[in-house]
Amino acid sequence: MTPSPRAVARLRPSLHVFCSRQTGRTTVFAPATSHAQLRYSSYAPMGGDSSPKPRKKVTINTLRNMYKKGEPIAMITAHDYPSASLADAAGMDMILVGDSLAMVALGMEDTSEVTLDQMIMHCRSVARAAKSTFILCDLPMGSFEVSPEQALQSAIRIIKEGRAHAVKMEGGAEIAPMIKKITTAGIPVVAHIGLTPQRQNALGGFRVQGKNVAGAVKLLQDAYAVQEAGAFLVVLEAVPSEIANIITKKLRIPTMGIGAGNGCSGQVLVQVDMSGHFPPGRPLPKFVKQYANVWNEAFRGIEQYRTEVKSRAFPSEEYTYPIPKEEAEEIVKALEEAEPPK
Ligand code: KIV
Repeated sequence: MTPSPRAVARLRPSLHVFCSRQTGRTTVFAPATSHAQLRYSSYAPMGGDSSPKPRKKVTINTLRNMYKKGEPIAMITAHDYPSASLADAAGMDMILVGDSLAMVALGMEDTSEVTLDQMIMHCRSVARAAKSTFILCDLPMGSFEVSPEQALQSAIRIIKEGRAHAVKMEGGAEIAPMIKKITTAGIPVVAHIGLTPQRQNALGGFRVQGKNVAGAVKLLQDAYAVQEAGAFLVVLEAVPSEIANIITKKLRIPTMGIGAGNGCSGQVLVQVDMSGHFPPGRPLPKFVKQYANVWNEAFRGIEQYRTEVKSRAFPSEEYTYPIPKEEAEEIVKALEEAEPPK
């Protein structure tokens, strides 16, 4: 039986207890301060016990079984070790190292600026954190469009150096030869159709796709084309739910919706958006539900730290390295009597 948060707090007051309102699952974390006191420096691996209940690794077969059983697949983006640790500990099925990394982690204007090397570096840090979650990484703009050979070379780097399990590519029928080449080499591919931010200049901005007959028919044709080319999953972004539902019914691979209603086989959101890890006033797309406010909590803590540094309330004695009083007196005396170098 899982003890109640109150019972855990009574027995071990130093532990943080989190009870999810969505799943009812209780998770117990050891606080960072107890780690800090055990080790003597901040320059140590992140470590921690972020995943109290070890899970079986999510593989492509796990995802296929979920799809067969009609169990929705949960995917979220992560771009570094802490955000991937959170996603893994919270039981996500898939992590996407999306090229939204460009804006939400690197402060770039849009996704066209991010390079394959940057995607790989971030993917690798995500892979170090994710113990069970299936990792998917975007092929950024310019790394796959030139030829199937270029696409395969980039995909191989993402798997070998980034340690992802699969790659994602934006585009429909026109990238079918690239999908075929990559999947033939044994690398699973996820296609991304509908609103494809890498093509925002051609689409005339971030617009809902498939809103008229011609657009919806083109979307369905793209979905069939990427499925036939070998994609094992397809992301549908910013598509009216009626259209997404029909595409989902007609395909034999799962669809992951982002702004495509809840008839898709699963959902994906950008972690920074859904967790509120951004300054107030940043506009959010209509489809994002904000589940937390990480910015407010971190801001409150950092502001308080600054105030306590200014008032010398921090660090109080509990945050220093103690030595016995007599030893301290002897050392202080020796230091006071020491002559400065000549
Ligand atoms: O880059 C990204 O984060 C994405 C999601 C929005 C699906 O592609």
